[in-house]
Amino acid sequence: MYYKISVIGSGNVGATLAQRLAEKELSKYVAMVDIAEGIPQGKALDIAESGPVYGYDTQMLGSNTYEVIRDSELVVITAGMPRKPGMSRDDLLDANTRIMTEVCQNIKKEAPNATVIVVSNPLDAMCHVALQVTGFPNNRVFGMAGVLDSARFRTFIAEALQVSVEQVQAFVLGGHGDSMVPMVRYTTVAGIPLAELMDEETIERLVNRARNGGAEIVQYLKTGSAFYAPSASVVEMVESIVKDKKKILPCSVYLNGEYGVKGLYVGVPVKLGKNGIEQVLEIKLTESERNQLNVSIEDVRQNVEKLKTMVPA
Ligand code: NAD
Ligand code: LAC
Repeated sequence: MYYKISVIGSGNVGATLAQRLAEKELSKYVAMVDIAEGIPQGKALDIAESGPVYGYDTQMLGSNTYEVIRDSELVVITAGMPRKPGMSRDDLLDANTRIMTEVCQNIKKEAPNATVIVVSNPLDAMCHVALQVTGFPNNRVFGMAGVLDSARFRTFIAEALQVSVEQVQAFVLGGHGDSMVPMVRYTTVAGIPLAELMDEETIERLVNRARNGGAEIVQYLKTGSAFYAPSASVVEMVESIVKDKKKILPCSVYLNGEYGVKGLYVGVPVKLGKNGIEQVLEIKLTESERNQLNVSIEDVRQNVEKLKTMVPA
């Protein structure tokens, strides 16, 4: 059990995540920080008061300042604007770069030994901001997106085949954007390759639905984006780290030559354990898969290029 996991941003994703972490009792303390006066304090207290009913002893802390995150082994960043209908995640770049810079300066000061999981969008670019501003080693700074995107793809497949989601295994490569690459060839249902269970047209439809999964929910919610599946996806990553489960999960990580990419955050399969990113797994790709991944990598690179003028050196 960790001593303290901190969540920066007490909005839809952050508060739901704090609740899920409390329920899992992965740490003695869960600390919540936000700029909104009273929000982290009120939500932390409300989650604490659920403990006797739900059955957890996690101690909740809420503050508008950062001393509350001291001694955190793990900090999750959900602070930032979510998108609204008609917006792409990339439209959040300017506003969220400013927010991420301020948040990461505080993490560097108050929790210098923490592992940082980034959630804020545009995810892959925000990971770059976190790495640059904290100055932490890149095995301790990575992003959640692939677990969510894969969960969406898995959900759609299970629904189409009327099978348990638990038996659908899939993962997504690339950036957390419209050009993400659901890896059909590696997708199985109870160990059976998907292509043996579903025709190409249906597979393509589900691939496109997964790529558009975020926007589909934004269209319904109107005022924000998804937060139940995103917070659940962060919990799977946190649990693999805290319990040193060494799960292989798709995460946005800093590539240093893997997949022919150097110096860029991209979603790839990694081994997640007590040391954070313990291994980047390079899988074999067909020419078509490689080409799709290259498109997604280029989209991330363009976003990161824009950061050069935005993040103080
Ligand atoms: P939200 O608006 O509900 O919550 C964001 C919170 O951040 C608000 O409470 C706000 O007060 C706070 N905040 C703003 N500036 C801050 C600062 N400087 N310091 C601390 N807190 C600050 O939004 P949400 O739905 O929780 O989404 C949060 C972010 O996560 C968005 O950028 C969204 O796009 C992203 N997101 C990413 C994924 C993913 O798969 N990586 C999934 C869902 C959401
Ligand atoms: C979105 C989240 C899910 O913006 O990334 O839709």
